[in-house]
Amino acid sequence: MNDTSAAAAKLSASRASAPLRGRALMAGDKSISHRALILGAAATGTTTIHGLLEGDDVLATLAAMQALGAQVTKLGDGQYEVVGVGPMGFKTPAQPLDFGNAGTGARLVMGLVAGAGLEAEFIGDASLSARPMGRVMRPLAKMGGQFSASEGDRLPLRVHKAQLMPADITPDVASAQVKSAILLAGLHTQGQTRVREAHLTRDHSENMLTLFGASLECSVQDNHHVVALNGPAKLTATDIHVPGDPSSAAFPMVAALIVPGSDVVLENVMLNRQRDGLIRVLREMGGNIEFLNPRQAAGEAVADIRVQASPLTGIEVSAEMAPDMIDEYPALAVAAACASGTTHMQGLAELRVKESDRLAAIADGLRANGVEVQDGESDLRVRGGPIAGGGLVATHHDHRIAMAFLCLGLAAEKPVSIDDGSMIATSFPSFFTLMNDLGAGF
Ligand code: S3P
Repeated sequence: MNDTSAAAAKLSASRASAPLRGRALMAGDKSISHRALILGAAATGTTTIHGLLEGDDVLATLAAMQALGAQVTKLGDGQYEVVGVGPMGFKTPAQPLDFGNAGTGARLVMGLVAGAGLEAEFIGDASLSARPMGRVMRPLAKMGGQFSASEGDRLPLRVHKAQLMPADITPDVASAQVKSAILLAGLHTQGQTRVREAHLTRDHSENMLTLFGASLECSVQDNHHVVALNGPAKLTATDIHVPGDPSSAAFPMVAALIVPGSDVVLENVMLNRQRDGLIRVLREMGGNIEFLNPRQAAGEAVADIRVQASPLTGIEVSAEMAPDMIDEYPALAVAAACASGTTHMQGLAELRVKESDRLAAIADGLRANGVEVQDGESDLRVRGGPIAGGGLVATHHDHRIAMAFLCLGLAAEKPVSIDDGSMIATSFPSFFTLMNDLGAGF
């Protein structure tokens, strides 16, 4: 049992906390970690990755890259060497590729495998096997990809051997996973693959493909963000310093805002414009959040973030914000529950197909702890005020639901319990240690 699962096995509740204080170094970003392994595996030469997130999701992608022929060696804590296979070097995996709980790994690697003209079976846990994969299969099919999936376009599914052609695609859902799957398929095709997005989603794949030397152009045409990748791409190994994960930082950030007297600095947090929506919203609600020591890592903006406890006020959060903070709604809902007034969040349809139906899980968890909530098909209204607590939250095996409600308990009158915390290790294995170092007393 690792640090997280040992703590989680014992832990089922969090309670009102003394002020959170001190500095904490954020663990590596999950999106960047997946991409560093995948592009390192595809490149020519040896890539060294520093600060890789050693969460279960990323380790599943690591194992998949090994199964596809890359040599991946652990050199130390979070430090890995990836010997890439080079052009056309991926091999057919001998076993099914098991992505566990990881939607990002499964979807990105589907694109990679289809584009490389390989045959492979994709499997995952019960939560991943309930998530839609048609959103990736449809655009890849336009490039010539062939698949057999389980009912409802779900895992287990098989990518069949096929020769893909470049295409010009406007995905039917705003998703960086879909965009990235198309670009990774385009790595091995002859000609230009284009993806058009009405709302730019996180652009880590574009940034990292550029770092690896791919010929890629980003532009705006007819109100769409267009990324054009010239294939076959020649990727050259490089060194990647993975910046800290803003989606994980969301939890100590919200905890520090809602626990009176708190003052913390979260070090090395990535501030990509498509990932910082929560910070913009929390500031608008009155959150005292400062950026210190701004710098760059892995082609991304990074800073240390100072967060001080602040009185928050409910606001209207428009649907346009959703792509810039799609993973942060569980944390935002906790902040909203502790604010004065009502927070209305719109454009939340995608939350229904995350690791759980997050919209329902948030609403049910808040209600169980005495918070007044109204949930629609794609929106959520949270009426803030003192938190009674005392409820048991069904996490539905969703790491972000578990972490959000443990944070709520830090500002509640009675303890907040969760039914399971073991899955927190999928994205934030050091969550308990980091929060306890700041004084959470989990
Ligand atoms: C991710 C994109 C997002 C996000 C996920 C990571 C990525 O999913 O929810 O946790 O790394 O590309 P969608 O692209 O489906 O919105």
